Amino acid sequence: MKPYVYITRKLPNELVKPLQERFTVNMWKHDDIPVPKDILIEEAKKADALFTVLADSIDERVLNAGKNLKVVANLAVGYDNIDLTTASKNGIAICNTPDVLTDTTADLTFGLLMAAARRIVESAEFVKEGKWQSWSPYLLAGQDIHHKTLGIVGMGKIGETVAKRATGFDMDILYYNRTRKPEVEQQLGVVYTSFDELVTKSDFIVCLTPLTPETKNMFTREVFQKMKRSTIFINAARGAVVDEQALYEALLAGEIAGAGLDVFQKEPINADHPLLKLSNVVALPHIGSSSMETRTIMIQLCIDNIMAILEGKEPKTLVNKDWRPLVRG
Ligand code: NAP
Ligand code: GLV
Repeated sequence: MKPYVYITRKLPNELVKPLQERFTVNMWKHDDIPVPKDILIEEAKKADALFTVLADSIDERVLNAGKNLKVVANLAVGYDNIDLTTASKNGIAICNTPDVLTDTTADLTFGLLMAAARRIVESAEFVKEGKWQSWSPYLLAGQDIHHKTLGIVGMGKIGETVAKRATGFDMDILYYNRTRKPEVEQQLGVVYTSFDELVTKSDFIVCLTPLTPETKNMFTREVFQKMKRSTIFINAARGAVVDEQALYEALLAGEIAGAGLDVFQKEPINADHPLLKLSNVVALPHIGSSSMETRTIMIQLCIDNIMAILEGKEPKTLVNKDWRPLVRG
């Protein structure tokens, strides 16, 4: 019997073809509606491979249901939606899509920073709503970006690429990571600081850490209160890295000047969410890596990883390095 692959979002047929030529492939019928959990569990029971997205919770229930499951290929670099411990225990390889989305996500992150600083979304809506009556000296005046201080929390691949973008704007760049990166400091002229120093000194703070128990709620009210009142906070990491209520209160109290958010604690965010009522918040629907080119490459990488595992080869981008295939009876 051919191995069975289940894909949790509708993908273009031409991309899925290499899988269909080798395996039995079943695909959820929608590209924008998540597969219900009970269906996902039923599919996992039959599957040798799952192609998942970051909105699918691949928890113990799903992984334990997958008695034949050998690989989960997640269409994202982040894998906080997957229970890695259970996956490794069950001999399931977890694969992600690092590197191929780095430039695209850095572009969007810097774009979000620019949009928030220069009030681009607010200004565009102002024109479309017919509110533009005359030229005025401080009409929708924002903040300069050039020559300001950018603080990057999570100086990984995307963080470094955002820093590269920022050098073109003559920004001073601070960063905070658990590990210092002397080579990056040399190459880009970035300066390592403590989290506290970065938060206090930066005009723009960009968060690009993974979501882990350590980074969950890293940005609290107390942290926002340490920022300059002119600071703009950008989150392109994961919503849960930020205490959203604290962010809302800090914005409302004028403790920081604005925010650019591509990610939220609960996605999709409800249109009635108080954060969305604030004119100094630019909110995007988690589109960091969403360019036609990059999403296509990410899909291909997931497919390559599935084919590698099912054909007994090394996957290109394995997350759980302690993974060993189970010898199944
Ligand atoms: P990466 O290369 O692994 O970088 C992550 C960085 O975060 C590392 O430099 C790591 O350094 C740092 N970090 C980890 N834990 C930390 C902590 N407790 N405190 C401070 N820094 C910490 O990953 P990447 O490719 O740049 O992606 C980063 C994250 O961006 C992903 O995990 C994902 O959540 C998010 N992302 C979002 C989008 C989007 O659409 N908005 C797109 C792609 C990625 P140390 O280990 O030295 O601390
Ligand atoms: C997107 O958020 C990713 O982790 O790739």
